[in-house]
Amino acid sequence: MANPSLLILAGDGIGPEVMAEVKRIIAWMGQKRGVHFDVSEDLVGGAAYDVHGVPLADATMAKAQASDAVLLGAVGGPKYDKLDFSVKPERGLLRLRKEMDLFSNLRPAQCFDALADFSSLKKEVVAGLDIVIVRELTSGVYFGEPRGIFKEGNERVGINTQRYTESEIARVAKSAFELARKRSNKVCSMEKANVMESGILWREVVQEVHDRDYPDVELSHMYADNGAMQLVRWPKQFDVIVTDNLFGDVLSDCAAMLTGSLGMLPSASLGAPMANGRPKALYEPVHGSAPDIAGQGKANPIACILSFAMALRYSFDLGDEATRVEKAVEKVLADGVRTADLMGPDGGTPVTTTQMGDAVLAALDASL
Ligand code: IPM
Ligand code: MG
Repeated sequence: MANPSLLILAGDGIGPEVMAEVKRIIAWMGQKRGVHFDVSEDLVGGAAYDVHGVPLADATMAKAQASDAVLLGAVGGPKYDKLDFSVKPERGLLRLRKEMDLFSNLRPAQCFDALADFSSLKKEVVAGLDIVIVRELTSGVYFGEPRGIFKEGNERVGINTQRYTESEIARVAKSAFELARKRSNKVCSMEKANVMESGILWREVVQEVHDRDYPDVELSHMYADNGAMQLVRWPKQFDVIVTDNLFGDVLSDCAAMLTGSLGMLPSASLGAPMANGRPKALYEPVHGSAPDIAGQGKANPIACILSFAMALRYSFDLGDEATRVEKAVEKVLADGVRTADLMGPDGGTPVTTTQMGDAVLAALDASL
């Protein structure tokens, strides 16, 4: 049987640096675990714009569609700030999400014991935290029409449209309920039903899906602003949070800081099953391209490494190997290996991106 195919799109800024460490782990999986992938690489974001004049070439889009999974680093950077909106690096990522129809974005926020002191919140608030935000990823205000900057009288008006159909809400709700069943069986749905019609519909549909197919799952609803407050007040009250594209974007950055650093958070963006039964899937760290530290070997590769672990679990049914990678990361952190983003108030000497990769590989070796 052919090896599963993996398309790597390292992108911009720290993307290529953190992805370099993932490539070493992929190689390790082949050498030490007999887990082989057909890996190919291509360009996305500013890197693609520099070569093709667009942030995602059609040929790359086609490759992504044909791959068993896509691993993405990060996109964007100040060099591209002045580009026309339609060719900005971010549009490459949004095109991948939209055309692959990756409607369910899982963003786990887990606080490793060794990092409980690093969060800006009190240790008891975050220690042992293990929640997942399920963010709707292909609709809502990110894609709704009409959109644009228009002339109205003698001034301009900027317009974006929050739009959700019942089926779009139902399918992401379903994925949140399915996930909750494998965890602590609790879903909290967040919207702004107090001010937005799309929020009213969201709440109704989530409740309907629950009552019809998932009555065993504990469901609650919360306004998203209250949700943001509750996330920093007492995040351990949550198990799975399901929310729309924009609220999910904001709430997941907030949840990331609960874990100590944005450099720790992986994500999986999943779509409908393909012919081979695997979901269409793209895996990427939640952090961005961090242009301020790019090229300096300072970036933390853990979020990208853990994104690969999610690929092992969700695309390739290799939950044991995923756990092996996660445990290796946990061990490295417990041993006190820290990149610059994980330096506590008392300082210390940070390791480089490559040294963090070395440490994870050593911990993987030790796991054999
Ligand atoms: C994210 C990012 C993206 C988003 C950007 C880079 C387009 O912030 O994945 O959270 O807004 O979705
Ligand atoms: Mg974001």
